[in-house]
Formats: sequence, C-alpha cells, structure tokens
Amino acid sequence: MKKWNVATVRAAKGNQRLGCCTAYDSCFARLADEAGVPVILVGDSQGMNCLGYETTLPVDMSDTLAAVGAVSRAVRDAMVVGDMPFGSYQCGDDEAVRNAVAILKAGADAVKLEGGASVCGLIRRLTAAGIPVLAHVGMTPQSVNEYGGFKKQGRTREAAEKVFADAKSVEEAGAFAVTLECIPSDLAARITAALGIVTVGIGAGPSCDAQWLVMHDLLGLNEKVPSFVRKYADLAPAVRGAFAAYVREVAAGEFPPA
Ligand code: KIV
Repeated sequence: MKKWNVATVRAAKGNQRLGCCTAYDSCFARLADEAGVPVILVGDSQGMNCLGYETTLPVDMSDTLAAVGAVSRAVRDAMVVGDMPFGSYQCGDDEAVRNAVAILKAGADAVKLEGGASVCGLIRRLTAAGIPVLAHVGMTPQSVNEYGGFKKQGRTREAAEKVFADAKSVEEAGAFAVTLECIPSDLAARITAALGIVTVGIGAGPSCDAQWLVMHDLLGLNEKVPSFVRKYADLAPAVRGAFAAYVREVAAGEFPPA
C-alpha cells in the first residue's frame, strides 16, 4: 500500500505542506522516494530536461509511457503523477481517456493536464472513469506559442479573475489538486484559501499548500534556472568534474589500476 495517494494528499491541506518534484527515470525517482518526496511528477518538462527540446510540445505518449514506467517501478511510498503530453488530450475526449488509461497502466497513480474551464468536461469523464486528475492553471507551458514565451500569467485584474475562475472550475469538475504555475503570489494565496483541494505552486509564492520544483533545477543539474528556484545542490560542476577526472585518469594510464 503506497503511503501517498489521493486521499492522503487531500488530507494534507491545512495540515502539512508538501515539497514535491519531478523525476523522469528510476535512479532519481528512487532517491526522491527514499528522501520522502510525497508526490513525483513525471512532467512533460522531460522534453527540456532529458530530451533536448526547447519546449514541452514535442513530448509524446511513447516518451511519457517510458518515463512513467521507469519512475513508478522505482518508488515505494510516493504518489506518481503522469503528465499528459501535448496532443494526447486535445483531439477529442475518447482519445484523451484512452491515453490517460495508458498512463495509469504504465504505473502512474494519477494524470496531470493543463487548462481550466476548457478541460472541465474531460476532467469529469476521467474522474468518472476512476482516473484521478491533478489540474494545471495559470502559466500552462503547452500554450507557449499562444503566450509568445513562458510568461507569468494573471497579472491584470481581468487575467487574475480568469485564473481564479479556472481554478474554481477544475475543483468543481473533480480534480483532487491543482498546479498554479507562474502567477502572482497574492493571487495564489487567494486561490489556495478559496479552494478545498490542494494547490501545488511553482513560481506562485509561499502560500500554496504544496510546491513543485523541477528535479534538474532543484539539484543544480541545470545551471540556468528561473528566478523562483532554490538550488538544494550544485551537481552540474560535480558531475562535469567527475567525468573530466575519469577521462584524465584513463588518458594518463591511472585507471584502471595495474
Ligand atoms: O512538466 C512539469 O515539470 C510541470 C511542472 C512545471 C508543474 O508541469
């Protein structure tokens, strides 16, 4: 029995703040799980962090299923959420349900998808089919072409009301939690107070019930990170240094030892 699931995440609201992160492979998922990360997101940010893309848009179902399988096979206690990639839920609800089912069959405990009022019909269908949904409003990276870049959302009064209404609507549709990405912290605080479900912030200030950080940012594997990120390690120089030492020692005949 997993320690973290929809019921325990719901029960955390108001009682325990949850530090959650992404992972995309078995090695790091196991380490995050052993460290007590409650919810691991197999984010479509694997596009930038693992697959060398500029955005999340090229990530497809086969990328997602491979990563969800790798992560879920490695964790014991964490809840695993599989991100629905761009194109997997935009072409009709039947196809979206089939793709969400595949993500659960690959090992995820829930799916995440981007959008507010426009995806509420789909959220209702997924939850009715027994597929827990973690929603995602505010800056939704799959809409990068519409925004013209990864830009903070909800800055004007009208835009803030739209984000607020989107958050309310995904709760009403049955989402068990909602990601609030890159919105002003006072708006995130207002949404967190108004909703009965857990808000998971990223670049949305300290008032959310939980936080996401992208694993490569948190560990300092990415040297350039968004301004809201705190690096809890500085692994890029350490990893580069280890590779360089290995190459040097092989060239010098010092490894393997005689
Ligand atoms: O894919 C991802 O990493 C995400 C987080 C930014 C929430 O969606």
